[in-house]
Amino acid sequence: MFNKLSLQALILSILGFCFISDATAETASASMLADTCLGCHGPNGISHGPATPTISGMSELYIIGAMLAYKYGDDEDKVDEIIESDPDFEDVEYFARASTVMDRIAQGYTEEEIKILAKYFAELPFESADQPANDDQARAGASLHETHCEKCHENGGSSAEDDAGVLAGQWAPYLKYTLDDYNSGDRDMPKKMKKQMEEAHASAGDDAMRDLIQFYANQK
Ligand code: HEC
Ligand code: HEC
Repeated sequence: MFNKLSLQALILSILGFCFISDATAETASASMLADTCLGCHGPNGISHGPATPTISGMSELYIIGAMLAYKYGDDEDKVDEIIESDPDFEDVEYFARASTVMDRIAQGYTEEEIKILAKYFAELPFESADQPANDDQARAGASLHETHCEKCHENGGSSAEDDAGVLAGQWAPYLKYTLDDYNSGDRDMPKKMKKQMEEAHASAGDDAMRDLIQFYANQK
């Protein structure tokens, strides 16, 4: 019954099926892993706020860096060892961070699972939070951003490609807690960012952080 051609077609379709089901299995396990995150971070990683950040649309490297920092706390040697031992982590930057819940949550995931989660959320689009902003403060913040922050947080803080998170459209209360952590030393930042934060304070005083937050909150 089988001529050469139909045998070939049969083999090809079996191969095709294996390939498709493999890919589907990977997506299914990624979305199953990610399911646990959505309770707090919102459907598709778009948070209903206000203290929980939206995590979709950030870069893979940034999400991996964050998860490793939460998982290993300030054990810098351990994180360095992990980064050095895995070529996939080669370009990951580690900055210790304070957290309320993520330190405990991150303990539950292996490095391989962290990679899968990072890829999954990085591929979903970022959506700006629906929140009010003060126009005058946002204007003052725009000029502070341009002078002190744009170099690393490109396109008004909306670019993910700089591996420095996404600031534009992020929830203002989350940004406020985060900037408080930076200013109190509870979260580490790049040396050059620290310098720019100090210069922003020096030029606009106590209004600097408020105005920057309003600038980010104002972007839709
Ligand atoms: C119980 C609620 C909760 C769950 C569940 C949760 N998160 Fe979080 N996540 C938070 C909060 C709150 C923060 C802010 C840091 C903190 O206070 O812990 C955060 C921060 C983050 C950040 C940092 C974002 C940034 O802008 O730097 C990442 C990345 C993240 N979570 C990823 C995940 C992933 C991946 C999962 C699932 C494996 C997850 N979270 C599950 C509440 C949660
Ligand atoms: C030299 C580069 C650089 C400069 C300048 C810089 N940043 Fe950053 N910023 C970073 C990097 C890198 C990260 C990611 C750190 C990490 O992974 O924890 C970051 C993270 C952040 C975060 C945390 C985002 C999140 O989702 O948790 C905020 C908020 C922030 N920066 C605000 C600012 C502001 C405001 C300025 C200007 C006053 C500024 N940065 C200037 C490099 C920079």
